[in-house]
Formats: sequence, structure tokens, C-alpha cells
Amino acid sequence: MNTYATVVLAAGKGTRMRSTLPKVLHPLTGMPLLAHVLNAVEALPAAVAFAPYVATTATHRPIVVLGYAAEQVEASFGQRCLYALQQEPLGTGHAVLAAQHIVNKLDPLPQTVLVCYGDTPLIRSEILASVLVKHITRQATITFLTAHTESPGDFGRVVRNHTGRVQEIVEMKRATEEQKSIGEVNSGVYCFDRAWLWSALEALPRNATGEYYLTDLVGIASSQGREIATVSGTLEETIGINDRVQLAAAEHILRRRILEGHMYAGVTIIDPAATYIDVDVKIGTDTVILPGTMITGKTSIGSACRIGPGTTIEQSTIGDGCIIRNSALEEATLEDGVRMGPFSHCRPGTYLARNVRMGNFGEVKNSYVGAETDMHHFSYLGDATVGEHVNIGAGTITVNYDGVRKNRTIIGDGASIGSDTMLIAPVTIGEHARTGAGAVVKKDVPPGAVVVGVPARVLRMPQSEEDSTVEDSKKE
Ligand code: UD1
Ligand code: CA
Repeated sequence: MNTYATVVLAAGKGTRMRSTLPKVLHPLTGMPLLAHVLNAVEALPAAVAFAPYVATTATHRPIVVLGYAAEQVEASFGQRCLYALQQEPLGTGHAVLAAQHIVNKLDPLPQTVLVCYGDTPLIRSEILASVLVKHITRQATITFLTAHTESPGDFGRVVRNHTGRVQEIVEMKRATEEQKSIGEVNSGVYCFDRAWLWSALEALPRNATGEYYLTDLVGIASSQGREIATVSGTLEETIGINDRVQLAAAEHILRRRILEGHMYAGVTIIDPAATYIDVDVKIGTDTVILPGTMITGKTSIGSACRIGPGTTIEQSTIGDGCIIRNSALEEATLEDGVRMGPFSHCRPGTYLARNVRMGNFGEVKNSYVGAETDMHHFSYLGDATVGEHVNIGAGTITVNYDGVRKNRTIIGDGASIGSDTMLIAPVTIGEHARTGAGAVVKKDVPPGAVVVGVPARVLRMPQSEEDSTVEDSKKE
């Protein structure tokens, strides 16, 4: 039986981010950096490369080493991880040692400790699995991930001797000019033999910069003649986020991956360079996304929709066959066949039922709008419950705020609200009632009645059953 435990280092403040937010909580495609790393770690057992070992390997919840703003990070991830505290940021070697007491208490006790960094969000489970598999098959003391690049930047350089054997990792700060030109760099993913790891870390000297570098263990293992294996990956996957320029570069790569995922799954994206979709968004087949569109949070969009151009959708649920142009939605729910825009705004708590048409310059907040209802031109519905087959005339406003409270407006099925009506809430408009253009409605309107004027008064009451069920002609 193989057993491994994963230690994710996330204690650094991330000074180069110049932020009060701890580095690992900075969002990338709508999810904190650390969550990306944890996703990869948790998916490792399901990786294709790991398939031959999965039945004979036990794993544990990831252990995250925290320091700066530890409580804030812990609050974001809760029970998902185990946590170790690094009291002082004395380097990556010191950080791993902070997890020793937790690793040693795990049952079954892991033979292998997989270490990765909380600031490398592009890492994938497949490459983590490759490192672990190589480590197991080689029975190495250390196996680590490297990448080849022409611009090695501030990555640690992998120094090999003339036979190709790894000798050490030299950090950029301490590298000679010759070593700086080495094109093979340390990606920051390692597997260690647990027993050796603790003894080596305990003996690790502080280096000239006052830190304990995890990377120095490679030189130590090499001088002891131990087996050191490497896996070569792509640089793209192991970009470490140290500053906001690198954050933007990672965002670019990850967004591209997300968009490609949707395109392969049957979504048309007219211009990927001008489309921004968060990692948790779901989109159905044959939906077309037009340029200038940003879809964020846990949004779900049905199939055969047309979204954009110039549309922002945040944390919303959209049914099949919806058309949304140049509009903004936040925490809204749209059933199938809704048509929206151009230039409409659904604020939190909006629910538009089947085939609602919400036209130019409309705003809806905290309201239910029933099926087949039309609201074509510059209207505001706030705190309203609107029935089916209602016509909201141009410029209708629910006057929902009396300066103290937000009040509700109720509009019954089949009602017809004349242009420029002010509905002074709380107020109820009965089914199939009508208001005249410019009416200021302060009192409830009975079903089927017609009201006009300022303040609105009853012009006509329904004479019979028939009268109250007259279909209102819809305006376009
Ligand atoms: C590190 C590696 C470098 C590698 C690069 C890959 C070392 C010494 N260097 O450099 O070889 O090429 O990653 O991305 O390991 N951390 C702690 N406690 C500390 C210091 C750091 O938990 O005391 C955490 C940080 O929060 C971060 C991670 O360890 O998530 C890496 O630290 P960082 O300072 O970013 O290392 P790099 O300079 O990028
Ligand atoms: Ca880093």
C-alpha cells in the first residue's frame, strides 16, 4: 500500500502583490488562487496517469500551511483542509517543517509527502500524478517537477552535472551569471520520502538571506548520493503568482482554457479574446456568446441562447432559448425564452418567467414577473409581483420607496398598465384592470376596472364577467 499526504504552502503575505488581501485569496477567474491548487490536489487520485496506482494508494485531506492572515484563509476553506501554522515566514523549508506534527499524526502514516505552492494556480492534477507516480516507481528520495524555458525569470535554476544528474537547485538571488542562463527551472512541486524529509529539514541550515529554502534539500540529497528524479512539465502550468502582472498572465491562460472547454462542449464563442467566463459557469449546447460579454460566479445558462454583445451576467440562472443583448444581470433567474435588452438591468431577486420580453432601458429588482408579460420601454419594477400576460406600458414606475420602507406592488394577470403610470406602493392592480396614460395610482384597483388621472380614479368598473376578461391588445 502506498500512502501520501499533500502539503500546500500558503503562509507568505505575498509582498510583491502589494495588497492587504493575502496572496492566496486573490481571485483568478472568480476563484481564489489557493482553491485552484486544492482542486488539482483533490483531483489527483482521478488523474489518468494515476489509474494503475489508485487502488493501492491511500491519501489524506490536504494540509495547508498558513501564516499571514491565517484566520482569514482558514475561514475561506473550512473543513476542506487541515491547517498548520508557520509562526514566522522563514522560508519554504521552514514552512514544510511546520506541517510535520500534522503529517506524523495521520493514519495511515504517509510514506510520501507531496509539496506544492499555494501560488501556482495553473497546476493540473495530471502533472501532480506524474510526479507522484515517478516517485513511487523510482523509489526516489526526492522527485520534483521542472520546466524548460528561454526566459527563466526568477525561478530557481536546476543545476545538473555533465552526466545529467541533478546536483542542486539554485535560487535566482544566489545564482552565478552562468547558472542564471540555465534554461531548466524548478516548478515547485516535489515528492519527498517522509522519513528523510524531516531529518533533512531539521538539519537544514539557514542560508545567507536568513531563510530556510526547501530547494536546498535537493543539493543535500545529491551530496548524500540519494536518488533524485525529475519530471519535465510545461512552464505555463507552473507559473507562480508573485505580482499582479503574473496574476493577469495566469488569468489570460486560464480564461483561454475555460473558453476552449465550452467551445469543445458545443458553445459558440464569436471572439474568445473579448469574452470573459468564470470557472464555475455552465453553458448549454448551441448557445452563442457574442463579444464583450462577461459571465461570472456560479451562473448557469441553458442551450440555444444568444448572449451579448456587451452583456454582464453575474451569479444568475438562465433557461433555454433566451436572447440577452447589451444588458446586465445580477442574481437573477430567467425561465426559457426570455428576451432582454438592449440596455436592460436585472438586479438581485429578479425572476422572469417563460417568454417575458423586457425591452430597452428596463430595470427590475426583487420582483417576480409572470410568463408572457411584456415590458418594452424604460420601466422600473421594484419589489413587485407581476402576473402573466401583463402589459407594462412605456415609462411605468413602481414607486416602491416611501423614504422609510420598501413597499410591494402587485399586478394581476392580464392587467394593462398605461404609459407613464406611477404605481405608488403598497398597491394592488387587479386582474385585467387597466390604468390610463399618466395615471398616478395610490389606491388598489379592482379586477377589470379602468382608472385614470392624478390621483387615479375609477373611470369604469367591469359590467360583467365578459368585460373583465377582455384581452388587452399588446403594444410593441
Ligand atoms: C519558489 C522556489 C523556486 C521556484 C518557484 C516556483 C524556494 C526557495 N524557491 O520561489 O525555486 O522556482 O517557487 O514557483 O522554494 N511560503 C510559505 N512560507 C514561507 C515562504 C513561502 O508558506 O516562509 C509559501 C508562499 O506563500 C508561496 C510559496 O511558499 O505560496 C512559494 O514561496 P515564494 O516566496 O513565492 O517562492 P518563489 O520566490 O516563487
Ligand atoms: Ca512564488
